[in-house]
Amino acid sequence: MTNRNVLFLKLVRWSGWPLLPVVLLFLLTGYIMDGRYGLSRLLDEKTALTLHRMLHLPLIILVLVHSVPAVYLALQRWGWIGPRDEGARDAEPRKT
Ligand code: HEM
Repeated sequence: MTNRNVLFLKLVRWSGWPLLPVVLLFLLTGYIMDGRYGLSRLLDEKTALTLHRMLHLPLIILVLVHSVPAVYLALQRWGWIGPRDEGARDAEPRKT
């Protein structure tokens, strides 16, 4: 596995855990505002909106940090793209 792939796998695994509470809170505050399923009893609408708004940016960043490298690694696994050859830059040009 190349250094890049090791880094990408770490990014996928580390970002997965904060993503879990952030996505759950995002859904919860959304449903609280909506008043569905009686969840509006948990928190007033104004606080839910403030929290929901604050969660947008971390959610977008975490989704990108989690899924872009995950998709990249999956494409490599499926053979749709090749692994980056890390020695290529220093290697002699190939004589054909
Ligand atoms: C709300 C959305 C998501 C949440 C909360 C989430 C959460 C997690 C968590 C907690 C893990 C375990 C990390 C570990 O092993 O330490 C994980 C692994 C993984 N996730 Fe997600 N994930 C989400 C969306 C996605 C999406 C959209 C993709 C792909 C496009 C994805 C791809 C993966 C992959 C490939 C792994 C396994 C990495 C490995 O080989 O260990 N996830 N995710």
